[in-house]
Amino acid sequence: MRVSFIKYIKLKSSMTYDLLLKNVKAFTTSGPFEGDIAIKDGKISKIGGDIQEQADKTIDLSGKYLVPGLIDGHTHMEFPFMGEVTADDFYYGSRAAIAGGVTTIVDFVTPAKGQDLLSAYEKWSNNADPKVVSDYGLHMIIREVNTKILEQIPEVINKGVVSFKLFMAYKNELMLPDGELYKLIKRISDFGGVTGIHAENGEIINELIQEFLSEGKIDPIYHYYSRPDIMEIEATNRIASIASMIGKDVKMYIVHTSTGEAVDIISSYRRQGFKFFNETAPHYLTLNTDFLKRPDGYRYVMSPPLRSDEQRTKLWIRLASGDIFTIGSDHCVYSDAQKKRYKEEVPPFNEIPNGVPGTENILPILFYYGVKKGIISMERFVEVTSYNPARLFGLYPRKGTIMPGSDADFAVIDPNRKVRISADVLHSNINYTIYDGMEVEGWNVMTIRRGEVVYEEGQVIGKKGSGKYIPGKTPILL
Ligand code: URP
Ligand code: ZN
Ligand code: ZN
Ligand code: ZN
Repeated sequence: MRVSFIKYIKLKSSMTYDLLLKNVKAFTTSGPFEGDIAIKDGKISKIGGDIQEQADKTIDLSGKYLVPGLIDGHTHMEFPFMGEVTADDFYYGSRAAIAGGVTTIVDFVTPAKGQDLLSAYEKWSNNADPKVVSDYGLHMIIREVNTKILEQIPEVINKGVVSFKLFMAYKNELMLPDGELYKLIKRISDFGGVTGIHAENGEIINELIQEFLSEGKIDPIYHYYSRPDIMEIEATNRIASIASMIGKDVKMYIVHTSTGEAVDIISSYRRQGFKFFNETAPHYLTLNTDFLKRPDGYRYVMSPPLRSDEQRTKLWIRLASGDIFTIGSDHCVYSDAQKKRYKEEVPPFNEIPNGVPGTENILPILFYYGVKKGIISMERFVEVTSYNPARLFGLYPRKGTIMPGSDADFAVIDPNRKVRISADVLHSNINYTIYDGMEVEGWNVMTIRRGEVVYEEGQVIGKKGSGKYIPGKTPILL
């Protein structure tokens, strides 16, 4: 007996890990940590000062920053919208994500008109599973209300789709009237789900669009003029009023917020105990309306539109203060041909498919313009890029942190790497980027997804279809 006990001890101490990360400088929301991280079966197995046990593979991360793999809670792969299907399918889009240190995307299931939620969920899984390289979760868009859709809300939540998106804009396509928004938020809340809201006043925007078109004002800049700041602020105020009336159990977040005032409305409710949150996107932090006036201005058409530098500054301030909860890219990629609807001339602004690429740019933009410029800390970087999205979408603590038992998902940042951004260094299925020529310092040089190196130095090596569906749990940690 004694002999076998000693044998057991020996076996234990000669534990072989799959991967050992040495000389790590890791960042979590609770500060930096220096030491080693050991990984077994895709999970973080041990975190320590100097781990001496064996590993199949060892990587020395001296001089690099390690952060939890980013969670991009806002992507549209293979998204049918405005008559086009986005150019990044789950393969191209999730490869771009992986190259940008994003180990999990949360994509929007978009039912066709008349389609029920469960069959749309099946379609999205079937599209994603054979192609994804990153892990993925799903949100559900609801575009109409009927008995079947209301009945299926708890059923899709059971499948791990715990967050939804409702639209106050895109009249005649995705927009819902206030009564239906109310009914859906109430129903989603009854089952513990989270409601995402596209907050813009679609009725008034539609009027403005018609006014401009009737005056022959068709250039991309009129996309901005037809969607004024105040129409986002109004819609945010309206939906916050409606949701607050339902009660304090409602979990709601305003997606892709582009104005400081809309953030402030949500923050003031949060201070009163409401579980209301904001997301913003990298393009609202870095680009302004002038881009819509360029010859390639059609590439910069997304909704809400790019805004003034004053608004950009307001967003940075609110990102630093903790008022903005998450960063999602709103990755929604159309080729030049799609943006121009296969014509020579740029079509009238209201016919340009809305959306821009971005999943690969979250990390460099937030790191360079946020951390390196001294506006946000690394802790805040981690909070908005992984910890908060993981909590909001029910993926925490499997995702969004670095601790034993969590998935071994990491982005490795070279803080000094200088890169001039161009389509050549990115991985989307298009030949342009909205950040062309932007020079940043700090770049993702390695991505580890569930213990596997899936990206290194410009090359995505993760296999097509190796990403996993990660079902969300209705969030309690908010
Ligand atoms: O312009 C955008 N944002 N396109 C994607 C659809 C949406 O509203 O998120
Ligand atoms: Zn092994
Ligand atoms: Zn939207
Ligand atoms: Zn979107």
